[in-house]
Amino acid sequence: MRFPRELVEEIRSRNDIVELIGSYVNLKRAGANYNGLCPYHSEKSPSFTVFPATQSFYCFGCGAGGDAVTFIMRSENLDYPEAVELLAKRAGITITSDEKEQGGISKRRIYEMNLAAAKYFRNCLFDQKLGRVGMEYLSEKRRLSPAVIKHFGLGFAPESFGSLTDHMHKQGFTDEELIVGFLCGKSQKTGRAYDYFRNRVIFPIINTSGDIIAFGGRVMDDSKPKYLNSSDTPGFKKSRNLFALNYAKNHCSERLILCEGYMDVIALHAAGFENAVATLGTALTQEQARMMAKYTKEVVISYDSDEAGQAATRKAVRMLSEVGLDVKILRMEGAKDPDEYIKKYGADSFRRLLDASRTGFEFKLESTLQKYNLSVAQDKIKASAEMCEYISEEWSSAARDVYIGATAARLSISPEGLKNDVELLRKKKIKSFNEKTSQQARLGAMGVGDKINSDGIKNIKAKAAEEAVIGLLLTYDEYRDAIIRGKAELSVNDFVSEFHARVFDKIIELQRENQFDFSLLGEFFTPDEMGRLQGLEQKRRVLTENGMQVFLQCVATVKEEKISSSSEANGIDEIKRLLEQKRNANK
Ligand code: CTP
Ligand code: MN
Repeated sequence: MRFPRELVEEIRSRNDIVELIGSYVNLKRAGANYNGLCPYHSEKSPSFTVFPATQSFYCFGCGAGGDAVTFIMRSENLDYPEAVELLAKRAGITITSDEKEQGGISKRRIYEMNLAAAKYFRNCLFDQKLGRVGMEYLSEKRRLSPAVIKHFGLGFAPESFGSLTDHMHKQGFTDEELIVGFLCGKSQKTGRAYDYFRNRVIFPIINTSGDIIAFGGRVMDDSKPKYLNSSDTPGFKKSRNLFALNYAKNHCSERLILCEGYMDVIALHAAGFENAVATLGTALTQEQARMMAKYTKEVVISYDSDEAGQAATRKAVRMLSEVGLDVKILRMEGAKDPDEYIKKYGADSFRRLLDASRTGFEFKLESTLQKYNLSVAQDKIKASAEMCEYISEEWSSAARDVYIGATAARLSISPEGLKNDVELLRKKKIKSFNEKTSQQARLGAMGVGDKINSDGIKNIKAKAAEEAVIGLLLTYDEYRDAIIRGKAELSVNDFVSEFHARVFDKIIELQRENQFDFSLLGEFFTPDEMGRLQGLEQKRRVLTENGMQVFLQCVATVKEEKISSSSEANGIDEIKRLLEQKRNANK
């Protein structure tokens, strides 16, 4: 049995790893990550680390590691499917038997189907009678011009269970296709398809190649749910797309604006900010952050001004900085979101906010200052400690100096004292990191007693290069792609280690099927092996030298070492053969 990637992604996104592991292990925040005592080996100081950004864990002491699924497999002693099902249940997701297999319908077909449906929705919206309520809502309540409505291909789904379904049947689409494509639901009673979007205005979601990959449908009043969205299909992954990036990609040489809602993006584009994009109803993912980094250098986060929006902002700041983007945060007062702001105060005001948007540090400083009452000494100490923690994570010493100066001024404390605290904290962090990694290095470098990769000891140079290649393949899409497209030539036979060859084979197989996700490897490798893989991935993440050049160099070394390893082996075989001959001759 194989679970589709989208399902596993959905299950994982709804089981936050910090919260999940936190219910088993006492976790303490340590910078961006969390530490605790490892549940898998006995220890006195915590080397078990949970990484929220990558939703993974790794123990620097015993090498246990992986994702939520691996954690449950180990902790509850379950096999892969059982662990996936437990996590699904925990998140309230039911796995239907259909979902355990692939739908067998191609991306192309889904895109064709969506195009036909989008045309239908648009015709309904522009129909004087049928689409009147939808048009009234969009043009009067939301004040969108006909040009903007057309630009975004907005539509309307009438109040009917069968109108889209009938129309699509006439166009040659089957019930099964409509259901797999999430345009239709499946009737429990008859098993037939019925319209999924009813009495809603429709927002098509378009990828950067111009295909309509999904739809969002909004109610026109306060009823719930506010939006219905197509779930992931063979042609659509929520975590890998951004609303309006198809337009924004041509206007973002300077920066992108990231919002929460479709309506925010539309209002911004209409007001001349054609560099606005939004996530698709889920928290920002690392894949989306990487996508943005492909198109621009700077992202201004313009989330809702409520508490939820601010919490999401903090997460997004980290996510975007991690992929090397310059991040700024736009502060908005007097309106709940950019759409409302522009309606109330106009585009010029919004531009001023944009120009005044703050860096991640300024945002952190402001929100810390707001949290505490600085006239209380204890509070001031807490605020200072929180800022020290933040500043100590900054790698540039010039930036640390600037941050220290600004923080000291705002807290009215001495910059020297603050600097001391920051540098002490940094030293502590660097020391503990070095201890952890050198311990790991000592254990692993020689490959002695390595049960997972018992071939490692045969050729240490090959082991190191292979580990680098596997680590990079696990971490970055573009290297997996480079292999598939033949930009880097590497095959299973190029590995000295049987374990690495097996891992390579699986990664590439999943990638070919457009199904690669770290979690899915859990089905094919033991929790111990998954721990090793997590370790290899972790190692690549802390290194900064991860460019394509490095990858190609490692690939070349892997191949060279394989050749030299096997010629040595041939040499030994040759000697053995001669000895054998000699022995036989002596008989
Ligand atoms: N969303 C969703 N499902 C919901 C609510 C929200 O998928 N039930 C997603 C949509 O992508 C939406 C985004 O989260 O665009 C932001 O939500 P919200 O701010 O509530 O929606 P807006 O698009 O801003 O809508 P409006 O301004 O019309 O209230
Ligand atoms: Mn909103």
